[in-house]
Amino acid sequence: MRKKLFIATFGCQMNDYDSLTMARLLNPTHELSDAPENADLIIINTCSIREKAEHKLYSLAGRYRTLKEKNPGLKIAITGCVAQQEGERLIERMPYVDIVLGPQGIYSLPEIVNSNGVGTDKKICINSLDPDFSIPLVKQTAPPPDQVRASVTIMQGCDNFCTYCIVPYVRGREISRDPSHIIQEIRDAVELGAREIILLGQNVNSYGRKHGGRPLKDHPGFSQLLEMADSVPGVKRLRFTTSHPKDVDESTARCYRELSSLCEHIHLPVQSGSTAVLKRMNRHYSREEYLEKIAMLKEACPGITITTDLIVGFPGETEKDFEQTISLLEEVRYDQIFVFKYSPRPGTPASRLPDQIPPDVKTRRIETVLKLQEKIGLEQYAKLEGKEVEILVEAEGREKSGDMQGRTRGNHVVHFPGSPDLLGKLVNVTIERACKHSLRGRLPYPN
Ligand code: 5AD
Ligand code: SF4
Repeated sequence: MRKKLFIATFGCQMNDYDSLTMARLLNPTHELSDAPENADLIIINTCSIREKAEHKLYSLAGRYRTLKEKNPGLKIAITGCVAQQEGERLIERMPYVDIVLGPQGIYSLPEIVNSNGVGTDKKICINSLDPDFSIPLVKQTAPPPDQVRASVTIMQGCDNFCTYCIVPYVRGREISRDPSHIIQEIRDAVELGAREIILLGQNVNSYGRKHGGRPLKDHPGFSQLLEMADSVPGVKRLRFTTSHPKDVDESTARCYRELSSLCEHIHLPVQSGSTAVLKRMNRHYSREEYLEKIAMLKEACPGITITTDLIVGFPGETEKDFEQTISLLEEVRYDQIFVFKYSPRPGTPASRLPDQIPPDVKTRRIETVLKLQEKIGLEQYAKLEGKEVEILVEAEGREKSGDMQGRTRGNHVVHFPGSPDLLGKLVNVTIERACKHSLRGRLPYPN
């Protein structure tokens, strides 16, 4: 009988992907369980992007410790960005932790788990980052968890070194994945029921340029990869995340014009509307250059949905700088934003900058941004009222509601009355009403 595996995942889509990879790697010996209480192995896949995310590890690990007191055979593993960052220190701080693995170390899990079975108390920590590492192709063992939507990693790491960000330190230098593995993984996902593919990476537009800090020669670039993915039979919709504004160029715009599966949405993190702040963030673009890229995308792809990430309270951010962020929101008119209070991360240059912003100012600024965006977002969503749009039906709606849930090509969630046999189908619905973060629609009445 297979043992039971429980995985708690924090953080971004890259971590979701890594958790899925770990479940696939361990599938021959472990079945996934949704309860930590009866697990033989618990993995906490951690995030360290902001302080709050890091704290979650310590409170959760404390809870699992008590499970281990009842079941001494239980193994506890910590993976992800905090594992990479803290390594052995995690075992010193929490002696009940058995295994610590950074993002490259997770591929050794089957070997480790088999040699670290019940009865051994050997501790294992792998948190080195090899610049020549190649991301393996791991067999998919079940339909994707999001049923019709599958994420496929195309690269790991980041070479941008934005001054606030810990990612380049914990995920290492950029590593591009072998294109044949990417295409194979997409084919396999389609075979298992996926209709929509999301290409994942910290910085997808620099795909194929460098590997572990060294330039790559004769490697397909991001737009070529998009073309290859677009031509895989059965891929109805293609998305990617995350893009860096400095790397979005005419070739990206061309893909929006030419590739039929590429959906009309881009997540393009701006971080701040002030050129002075962007400079201190080491973002390599000004407010004006960002706005030019947005104009280029809107021209290539009329009606494109634009979403973004924002940081408020970056060191030295004045009221004037903040006003620039507010006016940028009004100018771009995002459909959705993800806004964060600046959180100093250990070892990053911004954590050593003078003029750190007091917490009450950060709170006021984030509230101002959220209030404005609520209004803009609703106005953006309301533009779809009365329109007929194509949606990919992705799940059943809330229990007993009789609703199904789908997504427009612009990535708006739509709820509509419908039957479960529509799952995985592309249907046209008429939008009746816009809500805060979703739309309400209906299928056309039968003639
Ligand atoms: N503080 C606050 N937000 C951060 N982000 C990254 N690092 C920090 C930090 N130190 C945000 C950025 C990024 C998103 C994933 O997280 O907006 O785009
Ligand atoms: Fe972090 Fe900047 Fe790289 Fe994004 S581009 S992962 S914010 S360093």
